[in-house]
Amino acid sequence: MSDERVRAGLVGFGAWGQHHANAIKVTEGVDLVAIAARSDASVGAAKEAYPDAEVYNDFHKLVERDDLDFVDVVVPSHLHHEVAMAVLGSGKHLLLEKPMGVSLDECDDMIRVATEKKCLFAVGHELRLSSMWGKAKSMIDEGFIGDPLYALVELSRNPYRQGADGWRYDIDRVGSWILEEPIHFFDLARWYLEASGQPESIYATANSRQKDHPELHDNFSAIMHFTGGAYAVVSQTLAAFEHHQTIKVTGTSGALWASWSGAMDRTRHPTFALRAFNGDEVVNVPIEKPTGELFELEDQISRMADAIRKDVPLHCSAADGRWSVAMCLAAEASVDSGRKVLMADYL
Ligand SMILES: NC(=O)c1ccc[n+]([C@@H]2O[C@H](COP(=O)([O-])OP(=O)(O)OC[C@H]3O[C@@H](n4cnc5c(N)ncnc54)[C@H](OP(=O)(O)O)[C@@H]3O)[C@@H](O)[C@H]2O)c1
Repeated sequence: MSDERVRAGLVGFGAWGQHHANAIKVTEGVDLVAIAARSDASVGAAKEAYPDAEVYNDFHKLVERDDLDFVDVVVPSHLHHEVAMAVLGSGKHLLLEKPMGVSLDECDDMIRVATEKKCLFAVGHELRLSSMWGKAKSMIDEGFIGDPLYALVELSRNPYRQGADGWRYDIDRVGSWILEEPIHFFDLARWYLEASGQPESIYATANSRQKDHPELHDNFSAIMHFTGGAYAVVSQTLAAFEHHQTIKVTGTSGALWASWSGAMDRTRHPTFALRAFNGDEVVNVPIEKPTGELFELEDQISRMADAIRKDVPLHCSAADGRWSVAMCLAAEASVDSGRKVLMADYL
């Protein structure tokens, strides 16, 4: 279907779902044909914002349509499996927000059905599409720092939003706060250190300032070792201000340092920089295109459409999405036990 328009359905019209809707709207060659929301308020908001789309209060009705090329799922994390299974079961391609699932059984179930039905299945780790985090990856792959040995991926930010009905502050629905955002950083760390094999062990620690909910960790840090000898540090605090993310990657002959700052995560006016050291001199690497999750979200929709139309590879496959969940679950087990956890138990 190389020249045809791509018809998208969207399930979930909350804070991030509304950004997905806008990203679909602004993507060349993609039409937002149908939206499913839950509450009357969200259904009303979707109808008002997208009068050309059919809006349902039951996602099954959207999934039953036979004219959608893919469905974009942006609901609270504990519902990913249920909605994704319906989408894949209907034979439609799927773009599913992270975390892919809140357990590995859920991930395996979805992968099984996607394989049976021959569906494309992408997971919303959009940082891979960033002009800056992605540039760091291509420089590593091109050998700019030699063999990568170490990566630090770190975020300092303000507290999470509550989410509809407070799902993000309920461990049974969010899964864990590691699955909520550090999952992106585990994904980046594994991607950057790919040349050093796969993660083989994780040690993690965390604490909380939530008096009644110590299981929700505001501060979290992990050290993850790879089979080839490299290691990564993933660290996040939710007890800070604004949104400031850093990566530092070093190798046998050079180093990268990238940073991104905004008054909030969804700003279109961040400051960002990538500096690189080849063992000889430090250069500021030009980043022509702005980076930030709103920009990457648009690129993610565009990539999904290209994967459907032109067979280009997905930006993040279900296998990678499963790895990200596995690293988070292993980290959570390490926080709980105070011990190093082997990834072999999560493969
Ligand atoms: N990749 C990223 O950078 C990124 C960023 C943010 C969020 N996320 C992920 O995106 C997902 C949604 O997060 P959010 O911030 O948008 O949460 P949110 O603001 O709470 O929105 C979730 C929406 O899902 C809707 N919903 C719940 N059950 C539904 C159902 N059965 N059918 C249709 N809609 C249903 C809710 O509807 P009502 O409004 O009617 O209650 C709500 O509007 C989460 O998995 C989160 O982890 C990813």
